Amino acid sequence: MLSENFKSKKVFIAGYKGMVGSAITRSLQSNGYTNLLLADKSDVDLMRQESVESYMATRKPDMMIIAAAKVGGILANNTYRAEFLYNNLMIEANLIHAAYENGLSKVVFLGSSCIYPKLAPQPLKEESLLSGYLEYTNEPYAIAKITGIKLCESYYKQYGSNFFSMMPTNLYGYFDNFDLNTSHVLPALMRKFDTAVKEGSDTVLLWGTGTPKREFMFVDDLADAIRFSLENIDAKDLYENGITHLNVGTGEDLMISELATLIAQITGFKGKIEYDTSKPDGTPRKIMDVSRINNLGWKHKTSLEEGIKLTYEWYKSKY
Ligand SMILES: NC(=O)c1ccc[n+]([C@@H]2O[C@H](COP(=O)([O-])OP(=O)(O)OC[C@H]3O[C@@H](n4cnc5c(N)ncnc54)[C@H](OP(=O)(O)O)[C@@H]3O)[C@@H](O)[C@H]2O)c1
Repeated sequence: MLSENFKSKKVFIAGYKGMVGSAITRSLQSNGYTNLLLADKSDVDLMRQESVESYMATRKPDMMIIAAAKVGGILANNTYRAEFLYNNLMIEANLIHAAYENGLSKVVFLGSSCIYPKLAPQPLKEESLLSGYLEYTNEPYAIAKITGIKLCESYYKQYGSNFFSMMPTNLYGYFDNFDLNTSHVLPALMRKFDTAVKEGSDTVLLWGTGTPKREFMFVDDLADAIRFSLENIDAKDLYENGITHLNVGTGEDLMISELATLIAQITGFKGKIEYDTSKPDGTPRKIMDVSRINNLGWKHKTSLEEGIKLTYEWYKSKY
């Protein structure tokens, strides 16, 4: 049962302009939250400790959601290795320590499924964290995110801080990144098929064999899971049950070739899809075990087809 004034508490959404942060902002606003603290880089540079300390001490949030990060696809992760490690470490360390110093009543830190070992059993369970080697291409990003999880756990263990982490699967939706050099697979496919339709191309060439299986979730569903965690989950529910974080996903996956066919249909591409099998595939299957969050009472709502249609409408209105 939420306290009467819960929705008027000051919630700082770090990274509110990003794909995830903006979805969380929309979700909290439409659920009656009246006191959101929204700041971009011009208000507070999260990589600078002094800037974060002074922002937190003067604005005094009650709770915080960390959706600020340096984020990108495989190419960006592998190319900008130092930046992915350094920037993410600085952002999370500055925010989590300042949250402790200012006595915030809750912090929800966001990571991603790449924290799991490359060869962890599928579907990925929360318990698989730190049970093996990471995928090398995104190791710096994953190590930064694992450090964020461990910071939250350590502040809970040492000081009793109500800080915990949520690990979303691959996301897509409004305000996604459609730049082919840095984007994730789903927005990249959408852009490729849309461009092929506009240019009248009869073939789209995709990397790899199309056989790897992946899971995708509409970002508004993640935002709803974060709202749920703010209202219903506390750090002790995780740490006292032997886990450090909660997976958030759909628990459903499909082959990249099936995803490509679906996006081709939605964008109206009627040509041929070809695969460049000389290009690497990545891991054969990646899917989250979401039974823990499902058992706590939360489940995703948007089907993949529905989510892609909504995202494509948004894409067409923007590009
Ligand atoms: N996208 C996915 O598929 C996915 C999947 C799983 C988990 N996640 C997690 O969700 C979180 C957010 O991802 P996203 O896709 O929403 O990324 P995004 O769209 O790139 O948003 C990141 C936000 O962080 C802000 N930011 C970065 N550095 C900052 C700094 N020094 N000071 C202030 N703000 C800063 C960015 O502001 P600027 O734009 O001004 O730089 C941006 O608003 C990440 O932790 C990510 O791991 C994402």
